[in-house]
Amino acid sequence: MNAVPKIIAITGASSGIGEASARLLAQSGATVFLGARRVERLERIVADIRAAGGNAYAAALDVTSRESMNAFIAQAVQRAGRIDVLVNNAGIMLLGPLDETGPDEWDRMVDVNIKGVLHGIGAVLPVMRAQGRGHVVNIASIAGHRVRAGATVYCPTKHAVRALSEGFRQEAGPFLRSTLISPGVVQTELPEHITHAQWASDSKTAYEIAIGADVIARAIAYAIEQPEEVDVNEIVIRPTAQSS
Ligand SMILES: NC(=O)c1ccc[n+]([C@@H]2O[C@H](COP(=O)([O-])OP(=O)(O)OC[C@H]3O[C@@H](n4cnc5c(N)ncnc54)[C@H](OP(=O)(O)O)[C@@H]3O)[C@@H](O)[C@H]2O)c1
Repeated sequence: MNAVPKIIAITGASSGIGEASARLLAQSGATVFLGARRVERLERIVADIRAAGGNAYAAALDVTSRESMNAFIAQAVQRAGRIDVLVNNAGIMLLGPLDETGPDEWDRMVDVNIKGVLHGIGAVLPVMRAQGRGHVVNIASIAGHRVRAGATVYCPTKHAVRALSEGFRQEAGPFLRSTLISPGVVQTELPEHITHAQWASDSKTAYEIAIGADVIARAIAYAIEQPEEVDVNEIVIRPTAQSS
C-alpha cells in the first residue's frame, strides 16, 4: 500500500471477491467501507477486520438504487473526509437460455451489473473531481471478452462494464485512474443464484477448476498500490486450466 493509507469503498463486500478484497486491503492498512444488502454478513466481516487491528465500516447498499449508492458514498466521505478508491464489485450471474430464463432475470442482471456500476461512478465522480484524484476499479469478467450461449445477457452486461471503464479512463483526465479486472472462474457464491436447473448443475462442473477469491483480491490490491502516476487499466486473470 502507498505511504498514505487509502480510503476504499467496496460494493458487494458481503461475500466472494468483495469480502476477500475488503479483508486484504484492510490488512494492508486501508480504511474499507463495505456495502451490500446482507448487512449482518458485512458486520461479521467488519468485526473480524477490527479484531485484527484494521479499520472497516459496514453499510446497507443496494447498487440498483442511485439513492442508496449516493448515501453509501456520502457516509464514507463524511466519516473519512475523502474517497480514494471505489471497487465496483457487486454483480449477479443468472445463466440459462433466453427463452427459459426471461425478462425478470435479464432486468436484474442489467440493473446490478450495469446500472450498479454507473451508480457507483456517478456517486464518486464529483467527489474525486473535487479532490483532484481518485481510482475506480470495476470488476467485469472473462464474459466481458467473449459471448457464449446461456450467458447471452450476462456477457453483454460485462462487455458494458469493460466499455464503461475505458470510456471513464478517456474522460477522467490525468488525475483519475481506471482499472478493469476480468476474472475467469472464481470460487464464490456467484453460481449459487442460477435458477435454471441444468445451468446450475453445469456450473458446478465448470467451477471445479475455480481459483480462490483471494487471487482476485491481490490483483485489485496490485492496481491500487501503484504510484499515482501509474494507471493499471486491465487485468485478465483465470485458472490455468480454464481454456475459454
Ligand atoms: N466468481 C466468478 O467466477 C466470477 C468471475 C468473473 C467475474 N465475477 C464478478 O465478480 C463480482 C463479485 O462476484 P463474486 O464472484 O464474488 O460473487 P458473490 O460471492 O455472489 O458476491 C456478489 C456480491 O454482490 C452483492 N450484490 C448482489 N446484488 C447486489 C445489490 N443489488 N446491491 C448490492 N450488492 C449486491 C452480494 O451481496 P448481497 O447479496 O449481500 O447484496 C455479494 O456481496 C461480480 O461482479 C461477478 O460478476 C465473478
